[in-house]
Amino acid sequence: LQESQDVFHRFPLQLVHGIPLMEPIAQQWGPIENFQARPDDLLISTYPKAGTTWMQEIVDLILVQGDVEKACRAPTHIRIPFLEICSPPPVPSGVQQLANVPSPRVIKTHLPFQLVPKSFWENRCKVIYVARNAKDNVVSYYFFDQMNKTQPEPGPWELYLQMFMDGKLAWGSWYDHVCRYWAERANHCILYVFYEDMKEDPAREIRRVMDFLEVELPPQVLEKIVQQTSFQIMKENPMTNYSSVPSTIFDQTVSPFMRKGQVGDWKNHFTVAQSEAFDAHYQRRMEGTGLHFRTQI
Ligand code: A3P
Repeated sequence: LQESQDVFHRFPLQLVHGIPLMEPIAQQWGPIENFQARPDDLLISTYPKAGTTWMQEIVDLILVQGDVEKACRAPTHIRIPFLEICSPPPVPSGVQQLANVPSPRVIKTHLPFQLVPKSFWENRCKVIYVARNAKDNVVSYYFFDQMNKTQPEPGPWELYLQMFMDGKLAWGSWYDHVCRYWAERANHCILYVFYEDMKEDPAREIRRVMDFLEVELPPQVLEKIVQQTSFQIMKENPMTNYSSVPSTIFDQTVSPFMRKGQVGDWKNHFTVAQSEAFDAHYQRRMEGTGLHFRTQI
């Protein structure tokens, strides 16, 4: 990665089946669409900034039975490759990386349901979906797009918020993303987890993940995983805080990857008028979906 810094820049977005994705992903879409999932692959899927990294750490710690040293063997993005990530060559793509990972693999994606390679559904792979309330999600994404030098400039907050509402940010509409996975729970092996629930009671939600993965661990190991995946520990852990990624890609002096990790930070960024307009639009978009988020706990 270090040697290939010159290939990175703020990539424009390009539509793939109507979803805006970073240009290198759109240009190498074929191998992603045709990705061959294996039946024992586990997919962690999220809209960007919903708590992906947190869930990745939880899952990895469960699978190594709470062995913290093992979980520190490599940075998150190496342990759990990002399916659709593509940079211009020679940087290996997610698909290329995954070809060399022995089973059982854990894979990260931000793809909306309809763009997930078919082989995941054909093989009845397990999927853990993490969803976060829209207001905190967009604030987190706004700060991320400032420090992530590979996504388009976020521009002013007011316009960014409108782009989010219009589904024009990378990976498309938050509304469609969270609703479609929610609806597909009935048809596929999907565990749907809320970021707010993880904050409220991490042990309870980690236990749900353990049950889903059919892993049993003693209570003291569960407690260790709760500790090890706390915001503060993950912020300081070089294997989870993305400090291994060069600052030409993630400039953490602009905003740290582990930024706040809270529910309700949106209140510090939405004006009252923005919040009201957002809520009205939100209600129209989410009506009748049966999907409810908490914007504070
Ligand atoms: P904030 O920007 O609100 O702080 P993703 O991994 O999907 O990119 O999501 C990143 C968001 O999850 C960031 O939100 C980050 O701080 C938060 N996060 C990461 N690890 C966390 C943890 N252990 N507990 C709470 N939040 C966490």
